[in-house]
Parts: sequence; C-alpha cells; structure tokens
Amino acid sequence: YNNFVMGIKCVIAAGGLGTRLQGFRDNDKTKVLLEVNKIPMINQQINQLNQWGVEEFIIITNPNFNSLIREVTSKAFPELIINYSIQDNPRGISHAFSKAEQYIDTGDTVIFVLGDNFFENNPLENFHFDNFEDGACIFTTEVNNPEEFGVADIDSDRNVLSIEEKPTNPKSKAAVVGIYMFDNSVFNKIETLKPSSRGEYEVTDLCNIYVNESTCLNLDINGWWIDAGTPERIIELEEKLN
Ligand code: G1P
Repeated sequence: YNNFVMGIKCVIAAGGLGTRLQGFRDNDKTKVLLEVNKIPMINQQINQLNQWGVEEFIIITNPNFNSLIREVTSKAFPELIINYSIQDNPRGISHAFSKAEQYIDTGDTVIFVLGDNFFENNPLENFHFDNFEDGACIFTTEVNNPEEFGVADIDSDRNVLSIEEKPTNPKSKAAVVGIYMFDNSVFNKIETLKPSSRGEYEVTDLCNIYVNESTCLNLDINGWWIDAGTPERIIELEEKLN
C-alpha cells in the first residue's frame, strides 16, 4: 500500500463517447466500456490507479451509459470507494470535471485522469504531496506530434509559462498528458471558464488559470504513455499491458 496517496481523491473522466471507436470490434457503447485485453477500459483504468495506491474514485459518466458503467465497476471493485456523477451534456473536459464537486471536501487534493490515458509508470511517483497545498501540477512528455495535444512551455525550474491546446506552431515538444493534480479551488476556477472556439470548456484553459497565478508546476513522466482514442492506440495499449 502506498501511503503517499492517502486522502487523495481521483476523478476519472469517462463520459466521452469515443466517436473514433464506434464500430471497432462491434463497439456500440461508450469508449470506456470497450474491452482492452478482455477487461473493460474503465476497469483497466481503475486497476492502474489502484496499483498506484488510489482508493477513492469519482467517475464521471454520460447519461446513456451511467448504469452500465456503475454495474461493471462496482462488481469488479467492491472494496473501493467509487462515486458516480453524470455529465448531462458533452461540453468539454473541464465541464465533466465540475460534476465531481459534490464529492470533494475542503482540503482534498484531487487527481484528475482522462479515462483513456494509460502510463507505463506512475506519474505521481515524483510528486511531493506533503509540499502541495495550493496550485496545480501538469505532467508532460516529449513527443514528435505536439500539435495533436496540449503543449506546455516550461522554464528551467519546471514552472509552466503557458499551455496551448493543439497549436499549429507548438512552442515546445512537451505534450500535456491526461493526468492532472489540483487544489480544491479548482471548482471555483471552472466556473469562471468561457467556452473555447470549438465550444468546449477546455482543461487547458483551466490549467492556464493556475499558470496566470504562477501556481502551475510541471513534472515529466517516465516511460510510455498512450491516449487510447483510436483503434490503433487500443491495439498498442493491449500489447503494452501484456
Ligand atoms: C485532451 C486535452 C489535451 C491533452 C490530451 C491528452 O485532448 O485537451 O490538452 O493533451 O487530452 O490525452 P483530447 O484528447 O480530448 O483531444
């Protein structure tokens, strides 16, 4: 058991329908119910986080698949604390995150994970929870296709200077991966967000509020990272998890 995550709550964004995966292996459900090596992706995700020591979860679902996700996860993990919250409309990642607010108490530190993001190693391993009171932490890794992700500009002290969502001319190769740490001022911050040009409440805009307060730190991850949003990435993930 890893004591370092005691009292930490983990919010999993699991509402996305995964339009690029409809029809893949006869999938007519929602992305996180797709089987990855015979185990629904959401359960693979909980397994990953639980291996890192997390024991308390809030899963954000969509209205059509809430009961199925609830059934699949609660059956597999009767010993864990799992709460569920429905994102009524697909209005972006920050909007999904806001649905967890009722389960977060004052003083809680929140880990926010995108349900389809998987990691070789625990990104939180180098995170010093004891020193973390206020602020946010984003995790990055160097990629050759930064324009497909959030891209961070970072100084030599690992302070984040800016994050741009899928920029045409990226300032760096540091892709922001789908795991974030936030203090509990995060929900007040989400309320101040405006929809982006694609009409969504972006997680990048949320992180940039912390950047503007100079309280957004960065850690590099070690090992592989997979954003399992396409058939190719699912197959790659299956090979890596084997
Ligand atoms: C989201 C975030 C992006 C991040 C990515 C990681 O993008 O908006 O900043 O780099 O997840 O997987 P999406 O995959 O939803 O387009």
